[in-house]
Amino acid sequence: MTLAQVLSGHEVAEAVYQELRQTLQSLPFIPSLRVIRLGEDPASVSYVRLKDKRARELGLRSQVEVYPEDFSEEALLERIAELNEDLEVDGILVQLPLPKHIRAERVLEAISPAKDVDGFHPVNVGRLWSGGEGLFPCTPLGIVRLLKHYGVELSGKEVVVLGRSNIVGKPLVGLLLREDATVTVAHSRTRNLPEVTRRADVLVVAVGRPHLVRREWVRPGAIVVDVGVNRVEGKLLGDVHPEVAEVASALTPVPGGVGPMTVAMLMANTVKAALLRRNGASR
Ligand code: GUN
Repeated sequence: MTLAQVLSGHEVAEAVYQELRQTLQSLPFIPSLRVIRLGEDPASVSYVRLKDKRARELGLRSQVEVYPEDFSEEALLERIAELNEDLEVDGILVQLPLPKHIRAERVLEAISPAKDVDGFHPVNVGRLWSGGEGLFPCTPLGIVRLLKHYGVELSGKEVVVLGRSNIVGKPLVGLLLREDATVTVAHSRTRNLPEVTRRADVLVVAVGRPHLVRREWVRPGAIVVDVGVNRVEGKLLGDVHPEVAEVASALTPVPGGVGPMTVAMLMANTVKAALLRRNGASR
């Protein structure tokens, strides 16, 4: 029995960093990233540390601002307003989830669209859907980049996106349409899920349910992208059951698949924001 080809996010992320290093060498300035974290949620602490580390390794200027769990929404909005005006700052990222007393929507809308390296601002969401130039969410960008790197043609293909979050599922649909894919979005209320996912030439799973997708859900030879990061008894499990490797032609591992791509695309977005801002393109 042959197992699915492993689509390595580490390998493709390295290719992205290589390209970015070349771009950076040609610039007369150093792009800068500012990451804001509130509280001590362990997953957020580790994600933010990794983003800062990769940014520094790449040669970007990176700073992390940490505020207490009970930091007020008003104070956070004020700080974002200062960073929006700060000519030294190219990219601003507020790590999610935020504490319950803070309205994430207000915070994300306060970040200048030109510095919105997460691509969550409604202006960038609009640009994604209307086909314009903008900053788009890192995980969906990473997925498309990963597939392209491995020569997966998306034009005309049946792509099923399982999951409809604002961070992954929804923006991924927008990007896939821009690649001329035929896209189906499925979610927890979809009837006959396995029947729908079996239609896919390319199946992307981003639901946060460990090992939800079983071999019967996957058409033999399909390409499967697993966005799941589920911590179960100290282990990191994807949304896709390992047995799927026996039917899929290619599969992203967890960890080491989509995760490294998300971080790489954050760096790409920071460089892009720096370039767009200096070319006077956007607000
Ligand atoms: N938390 C989980 N994923 C993300 C992300 O892509 N961006 C931010 N800001 N927070 C997150």
